[in-house]
Amino acid sequence: MATLKDYQNDNFQPHKLVCLTAYTTPMAKSLAPHVDLLLVGDSVGTVLYGMENTTGVTLEMMAAHGKAVMRAEPECPVIIDMPYGSYEDSVEEAVKNAQFLMAQTGADGVKLEGGVDMRAQIKAIVEAGIPVMGHIGLQPQSVVKEGGYKIKGKDDMQVTKLIADALAVEAAGAFMMVIEGTVHEAAAVVTDAIDIPTIGIGASAHCNGQILVTDDLLGMLHDVPPKFVTEYATLRQDIDGAISKWAADVREGVFPRIENLYTVKPETEIKEAA
Ligand code: KIV
Repeated sequence: MATLKDYQNDNFQPHKLVCLTAYTTPMAKSLAPHVDLLLVGDSVGTVLYGMENTTGVTLEMMAAHGKAVMRAEPECPVIIDMPYGSYEDSVEEAVKNAQFLMAQTGADGVKLEGGVDMRAQIKAIVEAGIPVMGHIGLQPQSVVKEGGYKIKGKDDMQVTKLIADALAVEAAGAFMMVIEGTVHEAAAVVTDAIDIPTIGIGASAHCNGQILVTDDLLGMLHDVPPKFVTEYATLRQDIDGAISKWAADVREGVFPRIENLYTVKPETEIKEAA
């Protein structure tokens, strides 16, 4: 953790926060040692359930995936997304649903999308003792309302709105915020305008940290990845190769191999699956 003295040194490069999404126990186990924060993102709807966007994700889905991630007992903080429709309409509902997610999962906090318009909800959830991560810029839950995924910060008016949103989220008590799908200069200006850390996704290298959807990073999702993603693995091709090899082995009688078989012969140890 950086100290005040570190920040007084002009050459100090603060540690960039490394964040990734996780929806399952095994993935959370693999990721946790490498990251500063795990997000149980509502991107689970598009990534794991094949939904067109995140607006169909329910509170129950988030609770189930939050529980799965927490079963990995990750040492880093785990934040869970509040899904579309669970917080926008009233402060009371926002607090009740944030409490539900926390009680069900034991996560460390919640994330919700919105700026000035969600200030009251963020403040009330924070006052109820639940840490809140904000999410400004492109907000995937607004995709239907906005008629698509629209990059933000393209002109002065949009930059002014982004700064107002960031200041409102900060003033409401959020401990950090995601800036998504935003022109990089605008995301940098927003980062400099506030004191809490910004976490970029399709935003700026100047943000205090970065987050990606893990399945994007691992090359699971796209023939051509979106601009803001660099694939660090080619899991889709790897899966294709492994499954076609296994299918061929089954068809040719090569699998199962002798070492895969149980036997009643006393000299052979029966290895029960754990
Ligand atoms: O749902 C999600 O995965 C997110 C991100 C910021 C990646 O909100």
